[in-house]
Amino acid sequence: MRKTFIFSMLIAALLLNFSCNNNADNSKLKAPKDFLWGVASAAYQVEGAYQADGKGESKWDFFANKMGVTQFMIGVKQTGNIAINQYDRKQYLQDIKLMKELGVNTYRFSISWPRILPQGTGEVNEKGIAHYKLLIQDLKDAGIEPMITLYHYDMPQVLVEKGGWNNRESVEWYKNYATVVFNNFGKEVRHFITFNEPYIEFFLVDFMLNPMQSKESANVRYSKEILSVHHELLASAEAIKIYHNMNLGGMIGITFNLSPCLPMDSANTADVKAVPLQDELLNRIVLDPVFKGKYPENALAAIQKYNPSFKPSVADMQFIASNKPDFLGVNFYAPAQVKADVNAPLGVTWMGNNTDSVKMNTGPFMPDQLYNLLMRIKTEYNNPVTIITENGACFNNHEDTIVNGKINDTLRSDYITRHIDAALKAQKDGVNLKGYCVWSGWDNFEWVAGYTIRMGLCYVDYKTQKRTPKQSYYTYQEILKQQKQ
Ligand code: NOJ
Repeated sequence: MRKTFIFSMLIAALLLNFSCNNNADNSKLKAPKDFLWGVASAAYQVEGAYQADGKGESKWDFFANKMGVTQFMIGVKQTGNIAINQYDRKQYLQDIKLMKELGVNTYRFSISWPRILPQGTGEVNEKGIAHYKLLIQDLKDAGIEPMITLYHYDMPQVLVEKGGWNNRESVEWYKNYATVVFNNFGKEVRHFITFNEPYIEFFLVDFMLNPMQSKESANVRYSKEILSVHHELLASAEAIKIYHNMNLGGMIGITFNLSPCLPMDSANTADVKAVPLQDELLNRIVLDPVFKGKYPENALAAIQKYNPSFKPSVADMQFIASNKPDFLGVNFYAPAQVKADVNAPLGVTWMGNNTDSVKMNTGPFMPDQLYNLLMRIKTEYNNPVTIITENGACFNNHEDTIVNGKINDTLRSDYITRHIDAALKAQKDGVNLKGYCVWSGWDNFEWVAGYTIRMGLCYVDYKTQKRTPKQSYYTYQEILKQQKQ
């Protein structure tokens, strides 16, 4: 029971769901010529080669191989040891070809920290540097701009053992890592992202996975572990400062998982009342410090009730707010369905069951919520440059099967079409939107769900590594063709 509950919580945390129709015909809306159209991935989910060329162990190498996280969650041990083999140049050149034919001009991927600093700090692994240099060059030769995430959940395990993101020293470790990245790749790359989804990393790993054996209550653990988010925001601000001082001429942003909060049951007063607090805990907890220099009041009070020592200093808050990102990366999958729940941390949960008739395993299918989210960012956060750094879907894989050599993922195709429409409508209505990336270019290792969840535009046969473009690939290709006309 507990296992099933945790598993569904974790999957929902990663994916989130949607419903609702966006009937407006926005198909004629055009993005500006310099709009970034891309696909996204992350090192641990695609690279494989987990011990190649001097790479150190990452937090996820440890989780998958030694803790057996997927064994516990899906009953079978799966790892990113091979993943979709993208560390291999022969393989990634084929993937670049697929991207080129697709028509994207951007590839968002992440650098594996332990690949270039196997011990987290100290000696640089030149083979790791050489790999990414070549990948960047190969992408640019194909006319595809690299957009690099510095950190996508995979801290070197040696640093995790020193306390990870809960240790304030992590800010210094990350500064050192970021400097190595900018020194080596800063001249070639126009878009960097400091962190991917600090909240989800905290929730999934620090709160739910790491301390499974802990005897402390969920309220106490939640309120203690949230410090990791504060440290990631500080580390991000430090990296932004370093990057700006280097005058490299590109842009640096940060990516958040953002989900409009809706009451699970709008007739239930307790659910309705829970919405503002959940919004603070899920969205404003990261947006407000970065754009307003303070944590949202009710979330702070709820956290301090169980952890009175969570008191970020004025100096920290000023530092975060005075080193703002050049752009905000938005990962949007679905709105959060909020329930008041005395058993959930701080009395609220954002993962109610998906009641939508379209069975996305991420939640209700609601493109208009992407529109609302973008408009809210414009109004409440002073219209920052915004890039949708992830948007995608999976539907229990029932449409991800090859039939006569084809994959007719019509629901995913529809999802992408409607979300692009919603995004371009928001742009027409004044949102400073500069890019959109689909998660993901290829099916890949989906954290606690391993290979049981497919979210790619290309189907991957994990035994042979063969890629087969799905219908959604051709749908996105057609949208991009129309955009270029
Ligand atoms: C967000 C995460 O950034 C990515 O790593 C994950 O695979 C997708 N969500 C889908 O769950």
